[in-house]
Amino acid sequence: MKGVVLAGGMGSRLRPMTLVTNKHLLPVYDRPMIYYPLQQLVHAGIREIMVVTGGSYAGDFLRLLGNGKAFGLDHINYAYQEGHGGIAEALGLAEHFADSEPVVVILGDNIFQDSLAPAVSAYRAHRRGAMVLLKAVPDPHRFGVAELEGHRVRRIAEKPEAPSSSLAVTGCYFYDDQVFAMIRALEKSERNELEITDVNNLYIEMGDMSHRVLSGWWTDAGTVASLYRATRLVAETDAPVLRRTRPAPAKSGEAS
Ligand code: G1P
Repeated sequence: MKGVVLAGGMGSRLRPMTLVTNKHLLPVYDRPMIYYPLQQLVHAGIREIMVVTGGSYAGDFLRLLGNGKAFGLDHINYAYQEGHGGIAEALGLAEHFADSEPVVVILGDNIFQDSLAPAVSAYRAHRRGAMVLLKAVPDPHRFGVAELEGHRVRRIAEKPEAPSSSLAVTGCYFYDDQVFAMIRALEKSERNELEITDVNNLYIEMGDMSHRVLSGWWTDAGTVASLYRATRLVAETDAPVLRRTRPAPAKSGEAS
């Protein structure tokens, strides 16, 4: 299975910070936001990773991440999203990289307390269809919301005014290689984007969607309030997967 981190977008909800950098390079406690999804993928044993970014600061990802040495990788793949076509469009750019293998996709502004390794193993066990990770939240209207029917997801509503459950669809998705044909056939939404929720609803209609409900905390970091919350959660709770690898000691003569 290959991993894809989606780190494009305008970051308009984090202006003015995002006027001079990409949202995913902003700090969450002691490191740039994009470190968290990358750490999660590496912890779950994913070695082949693509970062999809866009906008004016794409070069900064290369400067920051290089070939992934800080994560124990010797290679990271990059793709560039022109324009603001949405999450599903960004994922479409990973088709060649995926090369018919299943993919685990993480939004670059999503932080998970617990390891994603159990979800990766669960998906690997049957390797087909799609799987989403759900989390009960107090503010589901901010997210994709799962309507459950028994043990099955019946539908996902994107940012509904009146959510039918408290289960947010987190930004970690598992797909087989059908996803790329689905993305090619998608139509743009009212906000002129290819929506990942439309992709997920197609899998549901085909009867090919499974889900897991997370027990550890999960947050996005794409608004001022959630960025603050993410920083607090990372700083104040125990999350072994997110522990920072010790920085290299400063060489003598270097300022500390
Ligand atoms: C996106 C998805 C939404 C999902 C959320 C998770 O929303 O569209 O379904 O619940 O990520 O962070 P965005 O935050 O990009 O508006």
